[in-house]
Formats: sequence, structure tokens, C-alpha cells
Amino acid sequence: MYLAEHDVVVGQDLSVGYEKHNPLITNINFEFKEGQIIAINGASGIGKTTLLRTLAGLLNPVKGGVSVFGSSTIRRGEVGYIPQRLGLIRHASVYHNVMLGAKAGHTSAWFPFSSICKPVSLQAIESVGLTHKLRTPIRKLSGGQQRRVAVARTLAQKPRLILADEFLAELDEETLIMVMKKVLDYVKQNNAIMVLVEHDLNRARQMADRLFTAEGNKLVEIFNEEDEVHE
Ligand SMILES: Nc1ncnc2c1ncn2[C@@H]1O[C@H](COP(=O)(O)OP(=O)(O)OP(=O)(O)O)[C@@H](O)[C@H]1O
Ligand SMILES: [Mg+2]
Repeated sequence: MYLAEHDVVVGQDLSVGYEKHNPLITNINFEFKEGQIIAINGASGIGKTTLLRTLAGLLNPVKGGVSVFGSSTIRRGEVGYIPQRLGLIRHASVYHNVMLGAKAGHTSAWFPFSSICKPVSLQAIESVGLTHKLRTPIRKLSGGQQRRVAVARTLAQKPRLILADEFLAELDEETLIMVMKKVLDYVKQNNAIMVLVEHDLNRARQMADRLFTAEGNKLVEIFNEEDEVHE
């Protein structure tokens, strides 16, 4: 496949799904640029999570390809995935789970343990308001608190691409606004790219520069801030 530039995330003639002969979303073409927040909505079961998992490199495309910052093999440290089912270690503490994110982003074969992991993790936990639960195991947290741990884990990783699947679910209005702001500020300040799945269309529009909707087997762009006329 043609490898795109190192600063964009590209899908080329991409089809996603679990069976070659029965793909869910087909023949998608897109180019997401640094600093962009992209929202995807669409009916339950249509394939939104499947698309995010493909962008995360957890699932192979059934057709076509993905290029993430110039590479078709996705470098895990660069991609922060906040899954719909959170994938936290339930018996381990908030701190331990967030440290795993920090280590994914900041350690390498040459630097097996970076000294910045600890402060970065503590800061991420504070940013989602969970410092008082630092040593609490995940299984003793509420649904919304667990979701905030998953957000902190991703922020601690300092990824260039964030993939967020319903990351605001189960949060009350006040907490939701706080978490949303932290993540959006991160993306804008670091010139990262964020692709988020969001059921609430108003909220999707509020957060995103570009909005896609999955319909049938297609992904249709219905809003792009760059196209808007600014007077
Ligand atoms: N591991 C899997 N193996 C086979 N089929 C799967 C698997 N995971 C999901 N599916 C099927 O793929 C389809 C799309 O699932 P997906 O989770 O991508 O939907 P979604 O758009 O994210 O829905 P929701 O809004 O409910 O989260 C569904 O019909 C689902 O049953
Ligand atoms: Mg889903």
C-alpha cells in the first residue's frame, strides 16, 4: 500500500469487519490531519468499534489499508485507545493501571523504565479527579470512575493518536465537561489526532472538527469545519 506522510492518519479503500465476504463498513477513504478531532456516529452494531479497533492495529483490514503516521504497522506507543469495554486490570489499583499507559508511551528497549512515568501518571490521575482513589482497585470503582481511569491511562501515554469509543458514557454533566475538556485540550496542545465514537450528535458536533456518520456499509462525512465559511 502507498504509505502516506508521517503526520497524517490515512485510510485507503479500507473495508473493516470480521469476515472477508461480509465486511461491515466498506471502501472508506480518509485523511486525518494533526490537530483534528474527528467524530463518528451511527446506529448500534454498524461497525464503529470495529473501525476503531482496525485503526488501533488490533484487527486487520478485510480490504485496503491504514497508514498511521507513515507506517502500516501501527506503533503501539503512539496510539492511545480508550475502548468501549475499558480493558482495565480489575484487581490492580488506579495508579498501576495508569502507569501501564505511561510505560507504553515512555519506555523502550533502550530505556526500560523512564523516570517520567511516575509524575506523568500522577498528573493524569489528578486531571480526571481521581487522586483520592490512587490505591483503590478498579473493581471497587463506579462505571464512570473506571472510564476516567481509562482516560487517564491514555493521557499518561502521551499518544499522537487517540481513539476513544464512547469515552464520556456514564459520566454526570459536570464530570463529563471536565473530562471532555482535558482530552480536547490535550489534542489541541499537542497537535495530536483524535477519532472518537459518540452517540450524542449534539455533543459530537460540539467536540469535533469533522463529523462522519456510518450508514449501511458507508461512512459519510457530514460536517467539516474547514469547509465552513468564517465571516
Ligand atoms: N469479535 C467479533 N467477531 C465477530 N463479529 C463481531 C465481533 N465483534 C463485533 N462483531 C459484530 O460486528 C458488528 C459490529 O460491531 P461493533 O462493535 O463494531 O458495532 P458498533 O457500531 O460499535 O455498535 P455499538 O454502537 O453498539 O457499540 C456487530 O454485528 C457485532 O455483532
Ligand atoms: Mg461500539
